[in-house]
Amino acid sequence: MNEMKVITKRFDLINPLSIEDYIKYEGYKNLKKALKMSRIKIIEEVEASYLRGRGGAGFPTHIKMMGLAKEKKLPKYIICNADEGEPGNFKDRAILEKDPFSVIEGMTIVAYATGATKGIIYIRGEYIDAIKIMKNCIKEATKMNLLGDSILGEEFNFSVEVRSGAGSYVCGEEFALIESIEGKPGRTRIKPPFPTEKGVFNQPTMISNVETYANIPYIVEITGKEFRKIGTPSSCGTKLISLSGNVNKPGVYEVPFGVTIRSVIEELGEGIVEGRNIKMVQLGGSCGPIIPEYMLDMIIDFERFEEFESKTASGAIIVIDERFDLFFILKKTILFFEHESCGKCVPCREGHAQLLNIIEKFINRTASAKDLDSLESLARVMHQTSLCGLGQSSPTAIISTIRFFRDEFLDRIDHPVSL
Ligand SMILES: Cc1cc2nc3c(=O)[nH]c(=O)nc-3n(C[C@H](O)[C@H](O)[C@H](O)COP(=O)(O)O)c2cc1C
Ligand code: SF4
Repeated sequence: MNEMKVITKRFDLINPLSIEDYIKYEGYKNLKKALKMSRIKIIEEVEASYLRGRGGAGFPTHIKMMGLAKEKKLPKYIICNADEGEPGNFKDRAILEKDPFSVIEGMTIVAYATGATKGIIYIRGEYIDAIKIMKNCIKEATKMNLLGDSILGEEFNFSVEVRSGAGSYVCGEEFALIESIEGKPGRTRIKPPFPTEKGVFNQPTMISNVETYANIPYIVEITGKEFRKIGTPSSCGTKLISLSGNVNKPGVYEVPFGVTIRSVIEELGEGIVEGRNIKMVQLGGSCGPIIPEYMLDMIIDFERFEEFESKTASGAIIVIDERFDLFFILKKTILFFEHESCGKCVPCREGHAQLLNIIEKFINRTASAKDLDSLESLARVMHQTSLCGLGQSSPTAIISTIRFFRDEFLDRIDHPVSL
């Protein structure tokens, strides 16, 4: 299987800092095309493409665009979520570092279509290179009148600035991100109102992922109808995959939706280190489900991933080979979320410590059947009652492994270590 290079077509071909290079390789031709279209027509093209957000939840992008376009309160904001704090995800960083102008062009088209005049790219603080690159590119685009006032002579003003986080994972959540931009501690807000009604500085705001914006120029180029032909009926276009773990060739790969997880691992990742067997694969990052080897023929598709009751379609595939202990992985996962919890709501603030207590019992082989029940019901309560996606999705690894690796849990109950 070969990659399908749409978002990544300019990777390693251009100097990412050079706007001349970007323009030479067809950059900004789609902004020019969009500026000749009516604003509503652009949103209709995005609707026809059925582009779904690439940040994880897969929310249809045209609904956000339409929501923002309808708002009368000015100014309106476009935010690019480049926080990418999820372990196992690094595809947004690749876009920012290798084709930064594609993100700015996509944001500019969305701004034009929705009537927004202000843009913010919120970049994870650890992405020092990406922050420098984006700041530089914004300056270059402004010099060429591709950002700023009267862009390309049209009655359209749009300026962009970079803000960075300070290493908190929850700041990738849209309202925590908004609070962080406003200079407050990164904590979520109760919804509704949604950001398109009341976002940053209480102004109408659209927040989308880096890869989502990078798709917009391509949709304008080929039309929504043609875009929809790529992938599967529910998941159109391509997906950038962050492939990591025990594979021979980890990296960022672009594939059409609908290919199998196995083909990505075996053909693009060139199989498992030293020919070992795969034990399990975690999808979407630490907040995603862990599935066994026999499920690897599952296709990459939003609908399939929704079966795990989690919003994990960001495109991370973490491969774990037979040497690794399931309970070690679960402990590491929950420790991460315990550390990153903002503490605002009880299920998440208290739940992770309780999950860890029970997992420790499985590690020490002192767990009882009741502990297994408690682990499962606690994970479900957290999933259902936590305030934001962190606490809702952090127990996914536990819920999925109890489903697919139940024998390993039972084994630890049935065969305690004799003292
Ligand atoms: C704890 C948490 C962390 C998140 N981190 C990110 C992130 O780093 N990048 C991102 O695009 N979306 C992240 N999201 C999802 C965002 O809240 C939001 O849904 C997304 O930016 C919308 O973009 P999209 O419609 O293009 O997917 C996170 C959600 C949660 C709950
Ligand atoms: S789920 Fe966790 S991170 Fe989200 S608001 Fe509650 S305590 Fe904070």
